[in-house]
Amino acid sequence: MKSKRYFGQWGGSYIPEVLHETFRQLEQAVAEIKSDPSFWQEYTSLMSTYSCRPTPLTHADNLSRHFGGAQIYIKREDLNHTGAHKANNVMGQGLLVKRMGKSRVIAETGAGQHGMATATMAAKFGFSCTIYMGEEDVLRQRPNVFWMEKMGATVVPVRDGSRTLKDAINEAFRDWVTNMDTTHYVFGTACGPAPFPDLVSWLQSIIGQEAREQILARHGRLPARVYACVGGGSNSLGLFSGFLSEPGVELVGVEAGGRGLNSGQHASRLCGQDASPGIAQGYKTMFLQNADGQMLDTHSVSAGLDYIGVSPILADYWEKKRVRFEAATDDEVIGALDLTMKKEGIIPALESAHAFVQAFKEAPQLSPEDAVIINMSGRGDKDIFTIAEAFDDPSWKEFIIQRAAIYSKKKA
Ligand SMILES: Cc1ncc(COP(=O)(O)O)c(C=O)c1O
Repeated sequence: MKSKRYFGQWGGSYIPEVLHETFRQLEQAVAEIKSDPSFWQEYTSLMSTYSCRPTPLTHADNLSRHFGGAQIYIKREDLNHTGAHKANNVMGQGLLVKRMGKSRVIAETGAGQHGMATATMAAKFGFSCTIYMGEEDVLRQRPNVFWMEKMGATVVPVRDGSRTLKDAINEAFRDWVTNMDTTHYVFGTACGPAPFPDLVSWLQSIIGQEAREQILARHGRLPARVYACVGGGSNSLGLFSGFLSEPGVELVGVEAGGRGLNSGQHASRLCGQDASPGIAQGYKTMFLQNADGQMLDTHSVSAGLDYIGVSPILADYWEKKRVRFEAATDDEVIGALDLTMKKEGIIPALESAHAFVQAFKEAPQLSPEDAVIINMSGRGDKDIFTIAEAFDDPSWKEFIIQRAAIYSKKKA
């Protein structure tokens, strides 16, 4: 089974000549694992013992009652080892690296979840590991940086550009060009040059396979709508894959609306008017760029959605109108997070909370016989600093001031 290179007009592999041989080998290795049923068996077995697969599908009965419309179900990717769906992709690519006989992995990370998952996988499989992360994201996601380093990874803060995900990707490519014989680049989302979009979305399809079975068993029929946040696109493609062939199931992708779609401070590519077709970072998709093709600065409260490109697979579904795209603002995200914590005792990651916003807006329009599924791509623990600031929480601030005082006394 060959990997797909184009999705409609999107995708492709626009890479420097020095990487051609590495990509040829990678495409061959991906084709081999995709046509070898023992790979998927090994993968699911690893994920069911080292991670928490199948992840549960939780009926959010309090939220369902609160909105008085559809039954709201939450697919719990937060319960994966390392706290997000990123583990699915990374452990799968780890098994691939073992088959390819390489000894070092590198990765880029925005929210830090992918870096954390890659550092974990490298520790487990005995690979050396370097993680590139925009300096801005290092500040926003300090807890994840701490854990990556403790697991033996080297975290390199990237000081170029907007010091976020796109800059980290550029830096990781620079590393790969010089170290490709020993090194595999564990791409974190369904973007980048072929075969990454196909490989990552295939590994994430485990979410959709499980969700489909689970909703049929629990609710007795398919959901009316499924919701997932969209950064690069991997968690959404994972969930959508279980329902793609069902025209009756509406697929909704939620992007980062930041400070509003008219503010110029957001990361919405397929929802809104600010993106245009372009080729960058090795693939063709809709990018947030100016008329000269220079990438724009983006903004989102969630580091993991703060990206200028989007999966070419999603660009194709958008063009074919198979997926509806919406955007949630930072303020709406904090509101949805608050409600979910209070009503269900569940703390979604800031990224995942985007999907909750849209589901909450639409659940009241549906009937109690309908079901909707929200993909909870990750847990919010990593976001404690950002969430505490958004809530302007006085006791948390007091705690930080006290800790800082203790450390500065020790330093003096
Ligand atoms: C918890 C979480 N959800 C979602 C995303 C967005 O990525 P993707 O669109 O590839 O699922 C990230 C990215 O870092 C993340 O950490």
